[in-house]
Amino acid sequence: MPTLTVELGERSYPLYIQAGILNDAGFLLSEIKASHVIIVSNTVVAPLYLSEVEQKLLASGKRVNSIIVKDGEQEKTLATFERVLSELLSLPASRDACLIALGGGVIGDLTGFVAACYQRGIDFVQIPTTLLSQVDSSVGGKTAVNHPLGKNMIGAFYQPKAVYIDTTTLRTLDKREFSAGMAEVIKYGIIYDAEFLAWLNNNTQAILSKQDDALSKMIARCCEIKAEIVAQDERESGLRALLNLGHTFGHAIEAEQGYGTWLHGEAVSAGMVLALQLANMRGDISLAQVSEISDLLQAFDLPTSGPASMKAADYIKHMRRDKKVLNNQMRFILPKRIGKAELVNDVTEAELEQLLN
Ligand code: NAD
Ligand code: GLY
Repeated sequence: MPTLTVELGERSYPLYIQAGILNDAGFLLSEIKASHVIIVSNTVVAPLYLSEVEQKLLASGKRVNSIIVKDGEQEKTLATFERVLSELLSLPASRDACLIALGGGVIGDLTGFVAACYQRGIDFVQIPTTLLSQVDSSVGGKTAVNHPLGKNMIGAFYQPKAVYIDTTTLRTLDKREFSAGMAEVIKYGIIYDAEFLAWLNNNTQAILSKQDDALSKMIARCCEIKAEIVAQDERESGLRALLNLGHTFGHAIEAEQGYGTWLHGEAVSAGMVLALQLANMRGDISLAQVSEISDLLQAFDLPTSGPASMKAADYIKHMRRDKKVLNNQMRFILPKRIGKAELVNDVTEAELEQLLN
């Protein structure tokens, strides 16, 4: 039985969340009906997990190929996209083949976009192996590659056929990457579920020591929230934008510092505290709540303020280019109370200067 389902009519799909699921052929084969499967992974993840997935599929008589790209965000380009398409054509893979994205958000976004475009769309399945990809990017169907002029600027909404989340893959993940994923986890509590935030506070040690039960429960709640939001607003015409809490400030930090200097989750962490402080200035969130959430972020080794060198003008120049800018008006996701957020379009530059200087 799937842990949960993303309800999108005929494009609905199951999510399986369980420790050790990659070693359970029954699960993998339950949703992958194609006789030809192509696994897309990278040079870091493939040595860790490719052979166990490959073996299960081969043992069931499927034709299996793999395409390995180099590691890193800098590979999420049109050039890599074209290379993967060329490899699919030369195999050849036909329209009834199925792709598997085995890796973090970079592999998931790239493979999803290849699946959306190859012969006008073929099936794909997500096996996310970073915390960020398990709680966020593998669910919801946003796929993309980067353009030199902007991140995720070329892509499509294209839903996978299934998502398999094996929490044991997080044991090999770098500590800093794990923490970065925790920023997105805490985000769900702030925007949607105060009780979940309290649960995170009470289970910090179990999560940090990567206890399977705690991880499965935590990831399942994040996916459940994301699935509920995506089911109501697949193409981000409103509600889905709430998932961008802290991202407007965070993107400014990432861009100003040079992509890769701060991990995305680290920048989102500092950005969420700025959003909470802005909400406090507007009378919505108490200082005690700001410091309670800052403490939780710090418990996971996450930053709670931006770089000391960044002044208001440095943030504002990047924020003007944010995807949420509409009719020249910057828009922010701000918590109204803990567990509820809203899209706000009346933040003035004077308020931002007061907050950021
Ligand atoms: P990533 O895919 O670069 O993975 C981080 C690092 O961890 C990489 O070096 C990777 O090779 C390595 N890794 C992956 N799994 C591992 C494992 N189990 N053990 C050891 N190492 C492992 O980064 P990410 O944080 O997973 O994803 C970031 C990407 O996701 C960005 O491109 C971002 O734009 C995208 N994203 C997409 C969405 C969406 O909705 N589609 C949402 C958020 C982020
Ligand atoms: N990560 C934001 C979204 O999927 O909408």
